[in-house]
Amino acid sequence: MTDQSITSVSRESRAFKPSAEFKAQANLGSEATYKRLYAESVNSPEKFWSRQAKELLVWRKPFRSVVKWNAPHAEWFGGGMLNVAENCLDRHLGTARENKAALIFEGEPGDVRTITYKQLHFHVCRLAHVFENLNVGKGDRVAIYMPMVPEAVVAMLACARVGAIHTVVFGGFSSESLKDRINDCGAKLVITADGGWRRGKVVELKKTVDEALEHTPSVQTVLVLRRCKNEINMQEGRDIWWHEAWEGAPNHHKAKAFPSEHPLFILYTSGSTGKPKGVLHTSAGYLLGCKLSSQYVFDLKESDLYFCSADIGWITGHSYVVYGLLSNGATVFLYEGAPNEPGPDRFWRMIDRHGITIFYTAPTAIRAFMRWGDNYVLSHQLSSLRLLGSVGEPINPEAWMWYHRMIGKKRCPIVDTWWQTETGSIMITPLPGVTTCKPGSATRPFFGVVPKVVDEKGKEVPKGQGGKLVITKPWPSMLRTLWGDDRRYQQTYFSEYPGIYFTGDGARQDKDGYFWIVGRIDDVLNISGHRLGTAEVESALVAHPAVAEAAAVGRPDDLKGQSLVCFVTLKSGIEATEDLKQKLRAHVAKEIGALARPDSIRFAAALPKTRSGKIMRRILKEIAVGGEVKGDTTTLEDFTVVATLQAED
Ligand code: WTA
Repeated sequence: MTDQSITSVSRESRAFKPSAEFKAQANLGSEATYKRLYAESVNSPEKFWSRQAKELLVWRKPFRSVVKWNAPHAEWFGGGMLNVAENCLDRHLGTARENKAALIFEGEPGDVRTITYKQLHFHVCRLAHVFENLNVGKGDRVAIYMPMVPEAVVAMLACARVGAIHTVVFGGFSSESLKDRINDCGAKLVITADGGWRRGKVVELKKTVDEALEHTPSVQTVLVLRRCKNEINMQEGRDIWWHEAWEGAPNHHKAKAFPSEHPLFILYTSGSTGKPKGVLHTSAGYLLGCKLSSQYVFDLKESDLYFCSADIGWITGHSYVVYGLLSNGATVFLYEGAPNEPGPDRFWRMIDRHGITIFYTAPTAIRAFMRWGDNYVLSHQLSSLRLLGSVGEPINPEAWMWYHRMIGKKRCPIVDTWWQTETGSIMITPLPGVTTCKPGSATRPFFGVVPKVVDEKGKEVPKGQGGKLVITKPWPSMLRTLWGDDRRYQQTYFSEYPGIYFTGDGARQDKDGYFWIVGRIDDVLNISGHRLGTAEVESALVAHPAVAEAAAVGRPDDLKGQSLVCFVTLKSGIEATEDLKQKLRAHVAKEIGALARPDSIRFAAALPKTRSGKIMRRILKEIAVGGEVKGDTTTLEDFTVVATLQAED
């Protein structure tokens, strides 16, 4: 039998304690409180979650049970009724938050709008009436294909208000992907815009919708927001303008209550492999997970201005732009466009312009900022920032250090939050007033989360050893099924270890119990019998001053099982030479040992990524083997990257 354990080679040992100033003002500032609450949340989950649900959510009808777990199916807060939109809006009316900004929006061209809670409530109520006039209500599916503008948030909340199930499709997806998603869920209504601004150009969303709708029998109506005023085609009897439809619709709307487990949304996720899965989230448990984690992980204060750079087409945009933040009455900053339009300092300019206090982004973006150069950052103050976050991939320690030094000015804690579309809310994360951070580690579990690193048989591996990351107990914001495919739900997440949620990620726990995610299990390298996570090799490469980004993949090798091929993009201005290749190979061998010395280094102008910024190693593997790129590439951000890589072969 082959040894299936994962060898971990990282030697990262830096540690950063929260400052006394931050601790003193934190929503949760003591280790003892974290320990007590965590222990309660896992030892007496019913007591813990019942209290949280009563305190944090507004119920129309109280729940009778906390959780019923009939693996792999969960029911949370059975018997309870609530309205998610009411929990995000109505509850703030008649309070000091009524005229507080809910959204501050900056469009790519520089247009700014502020929308208060009361105004947002009006918008959502009006759209809810439009839906009802269109006969869109409880359980109907609505596809939202919009730019990152306030109306996208309005559309989501209006669905929640009438009990319709939204599926937001990222505005960068093609008509083909849009069509598949609409057909998979059988959407009745599509909400889109004439266009959205991206890199100074109009992305013609309506045109893409028109193409997709040639093959979508379920769609009856298309509601079109005017954003860019570009010329579009309106199909008589099907397409209606947003501004015309809601002209005269009342500002008030009596929201119905829905059961706790009423579906809130479907979000299609492809990860880096296979046909997209329609992850289904429901109402009460999801909202509770988002709300509680937002309070503690982002240390939310009434005065914060929070900016998450994720598009609402991703789970991060659902949980930590819309539901977690608005239910807490926070002010959310929304930005429509590209991070480098008109220049690579757009984000820093906006942070200074608006006084943003919390900034949440992805490692891929951080590596791009590093690559563009420090000068773009140094010409801005960034003095309003007090907390930084990272999500989406393992953050390599060098990027963490840069983020800490250059953006956080060594003053802001960094929360490296591990979670997934499927988990709904943050699962493993530092708490900024409590946790000592180690660059590259997502640290410790959030309340109610019981993660373990296990071997093939499901046995917990010793500390320091790599294995598969599982979550052993149900949690309120977990996915409930895959839309229309419960079998695939069971197979994907609960067949590896019956009754236990398998994340698909490799991880290890260090001697302090901190979790280090080493990459997707599908991507694990097998070099001379050692199974290595991709993250550790890549992070060693990125620690070299010439390297901007790296991806490690295995190529079949008679001798070693796999040989290690690393694709590397260099920082601006660095020359790609044979000598540098040798230096990088030596550098990795020195950093993590000879077993991980890359057999081959290939310089690339760019790496293939999903549209949410994750490196698609599967494609690189196919290129490394010298074959054609097969398999699903519809989630690829830019196909020319692959063409270039193949040409360079
Ligand atoms: C990866 C994004 C390491 C991981 C919210 C996970 C991370 C997948 C982190 C889910 C992190 C996300 N450290 N890896 N902090 N956050 N991942 O569904 O592989 O887009 O399984 O959800 O991203 O990606 P998804």
